[in-house]
Amino acid sequence: MRETAVSTVREAAEWTEPARLAGLPPYPLADVPDIKARLLAEGRSVIDLGVGDPGLPVPEVAIEVVREAVGDPALSKYGFQRGLPGYRTSIAGWMGRRFGVAVDPDVELLPVIGTKEAIALTAFAVLDPGDSVIVPDPGYAAYFGGSHFAAANVIRTPLRAEEGFLIPPDVIRRAPGRLRLVYMNYPNNPTSAVAEVSYLREVVAVCHERGAVLLFDNAYSEITFDGFRAPGLLEIEGGREIGLEFHSMSKTYNMTGWRLGWAAGNRQLIAALRRVKTFFDTGAFMALQAAGAAVLADPDAYIQWSLAQLASRREAAVRAFRAAGLDVTAPLGTLYLWFPVPSSETSEAFCRRLLLESGLVLLPGSSMGPGGEGFVRASLAIPEDAWEEAGRRVREAL
Ligand SMILES: Cc1ncc(COP(=O)(O)O)c(C=O)c1O
Repeated sequence: MRETAVSTVREAAEWTEPARLAGLPPYPLADVPDIKARLLAEGRSVIDLGVGDPGLPVPEVAIEVVREAVGDPALSKYGFQRGLPGYRTSIAGWMGRRFGVAVDPDVELLPVIGTKEAIALTAFAVLDPGDSVIVPDPGYAAYFGGSHFAAANVIRTPLRAEEGFLIPPDVIRRAPGRLRLVYMNYPNNPTSAVAEVSYLREVVAVCHERGAVLLFDNAYSEITFDGFRAPGLLEIEGGREIGLEFHSMSKTYNMTGWRLGWAAGNRQLIAALRRVKTFFDTGAFMALQAAGAAVLADPDAYIQWSLAQLASRREAAVRAFRAAGLDVTAPLGTLYLWFPVPSSETSEAFCRRLLLESGLVLLPGSSMGPGGEGFVRASLAIPEDAWEEAGRRVREAL
């Protein structure tokens, strides 16, 4: 038994990576979990602002419903792609209230096991090898990942501060090759930029011109401040014809580990994604979908509460980091502060130094793509009263 295990390890060591795997970019600070564990084992205090997880309590109704639901044998069966009908009707109700749009829960919605997987799999539903795809840089890893594994021509498009971190519509208009897909995400991770309705209208128009599908990742639609209301793709005229919009329970309801979200939009695209997913997964656990249905049916009070927590963290974070000498602006959306590296170091070198010297975990901009170099991301992942200490550690390191 032991010998077999050893020989398997030996064989694995001789294994040659396929080109697509070898072609994945390295992940800066991949060793952070190990460093963090080592610091904690040495008794050092670590403040983790690297993860996009607010760590707030999930809605009580989710816990109540899931407790019951796990005892229901019908909900322990395969959910398959259509999942629990009540989850889809609840989503349709939520989309109607939030965006004023009518969505057919049978053909224009698809439950997904967290949006990350489905965002990546959309590339397989839309792209042939060699097709062009626009991927924001910096941007969420699943956009690049899906496109890369689908052997597409990935056009990494820089998000620039001077352009409000928006993808200029002209870049879409002039993209080389057979442009079939545009990945877009506002409120944006990592830059925290937001998009106005007028911008989205322009983007929809130019995607129509190019015959490209727009994947609008709206994972942070509900996390906005100072009265800003994030638009949805389906409320834009023509948006439904060319696009899919993704929503996640993760950030909106602090349910990151539950792995639940949905895609909404063009019925042919929904059908295509459903077909792809049939070959990759068998649907989200229906007991979790039952909880999701209950949460979405009763959303507003919880979101208001959660946003109030994040808003006070945002104030505290901006105050503490400005006092520490960082050039931060209060974001209008998302959980992130996105600021220039305050030294001549690379973002990775700066973040590594802060981790080792001060036990402060930050995300180097370069980990979100080469276009993120020169910037750092800090998540609103710690309570309001912990920011002063985080700021003190930055000041000390500078
Ligand atoms: C921009 C963006 N999209 C999608 C996701 C994925 O969310 P989930 O897979 O938890 O639904 C995240 C998570 O960090 C994100 O930042």
